[in-house]
Amino acid sequence: MGKPKYLIGIDLGTSGTKTVLFDISGAVISSSTAEYPIIQPRNGWAEQDPELWWDACVKTVKHVISSSGIDACDIAGIGLSGQMHGLVLLDGDGAVLRNSIIWCDGRTADECAEITETIGADRLIAITANPALTGFTAGKILWVRKHEPELYDRARHILLPKDYLRYKLCGVFATEVSDSSGMNLLDVPKRKWSEEILEDLGIDEEFLPKMHESRDVTGYITHEAALLTGLKAGTPVVGGAGDNAAAAVGTGVVESGKAFITLGTSGVIFAHSDKVNIDPKGRVHTFCAAVPDAWTVMSCTLCAAGSLQWFVNNLCEADIQGAEKAGRDVYEIITEQAAQSPVGANRLIFLPYLMGERSPILDPDARGVFFGLSGMHTRHDMVRAIMEGVIYSQRDCLDVLREMKTPFGQILVTGGGGRSPLWRQMMADVLDCPVVSVTPMNGPALGAAILAGVGTGVYESIPSACASILRADETSVPDREQQPAYEQYYALYREVYNRLTSQFKVLSEL
Ligand code: XUL
Repeated sequence: MGKPKYLIGIDLGTSGTKTVLFDISGAVISSSTAEYPIIQPRNGWAEQDPELWWDACVKTVKHVISSSGIDACDIAGIGLSGQMHGLVLLDGDGAVLRNSIIWCDGRTADECAEITETIGADRLIAITANPALTGFTAGKILWVRKHEPELYDRARHILLPKDYLRYKLCGVFATEVSDSSGMNLLDVPKRKWSEEILEDLGIDEEFLPKMHESRDVTGYITHEAALLTGLKAGTPVVGGAGDNAAAAVGTGVVESGKAFITLGTSGVIFAHSDKVNIDPKGRVHTFCAAVPDAWTVMSCTLCAAGSLQWFVNNLCEADIQGAEKAGRDVYEIITEQAAQSPVGANRLIFLPYLMGERSPILDPDARGVFFGLSGMHTRHDMVRAIMEGVIYSQRDCLDVLREMKTPFGQILVTGGGGRSPLWRQMMADVLDCPVVSVTPMNGPALGAAILAGVGTGVYESIPSACASILRADETSVPDREQQPAYEQYYALYREVYNRLTSQFKVLSEL
């Protein structure tokens, strides 16, 4: 019998970077997370410091290796996953030029209008499979070029967040198709940079990284990175995937008919597709999948579990301290407490638009609302209303996927919010679909590690690796008794937003 082999998945998330060392059965050998802040210089803007991402990567990789006691020579490969759309700009020496403008930043409405005008709305959707969206990277490039021209003049490399880690680990400028799909620069049906879009927008292709498929080996750990992390120089690093495409692999959504939902900072519903299926209204995204010759239809709301995080960070100091003392997770405690409030949270509705909203309303000016707040409401009602509002926003997206005839019979669940039984039951009731949790629940990090295993020959294919590693766990089925009440609240939720649309705009201009 040969020596045991291991794989590493590094997931550069919004709240932190999580690195997991797996054995080839998919079991977690060790795991480590390091956090960093979001910088919000203005209402609706969001940035992060790429140097902090790299520090978190070094720290967590070092920790998983040293705490596991394994020999780094036995790590067969590394996969990267990460928050999509962020703009990382480097100068000719590879130095970071400014903070990264990340996926939930909404400053580029003017640049998106300019892109649509230059390319033409229909042509843009036909080539990039998506409209120009404020979260996506192209608008951010144009914003820096317009507002920080001196800095832009010094730029020589444009990278996505996880690809910056690849550069630091391997010294190469490379990316892969799933993450690049969210830049408005990729020819998504053809899975390569669109020369015509680049030319029309005046972006030099030389600035962009080399394109790969997600499971391809893109580079090897350098001596310098090996010294810092404890990895062995020469260890292969595969393309990996944007966090959602990686989570799809990590939950087994790698064949037509399968879909998953994840409630991390963002809320995503993601369905696999064997063909390019585009919403002509651009309310949901069409991206390349991490699986070769496959695509995805995906919705993204900007502040899902992020809404709960906002509430906890600002209003739950006592719960945080209580949880620390009890050695428990504060989210587990407050979501358990929310179960004391009934369906509809005693007539309280929350719109989770704290960062503006992408799918399906495409409104960077939208903001959060508690509607119906009364003197009788408690924090439990407020938490329940937040949890329900987040699921109503997912339902709003799922209605579009259904309209596009995206096939799925059940929805697998992964990520932060998926751990709460109350949230899973709400998903089943409001989305009107069985919701199945998957074990192990390591989403993007596991998906990235599986891609590393396929790229280095540990596994034969992505579907066969998923079949051997993943199993369905608990199923929440829709509760017919609760559904009528949820339907009424959902209808009102939509109406509240529709009636406030123009007021949000006025508010943004005050
Ligand atoms: C997807 C999206 C988010 C980020 C952060 O389009 O913007 O899911 O990838 O997780």
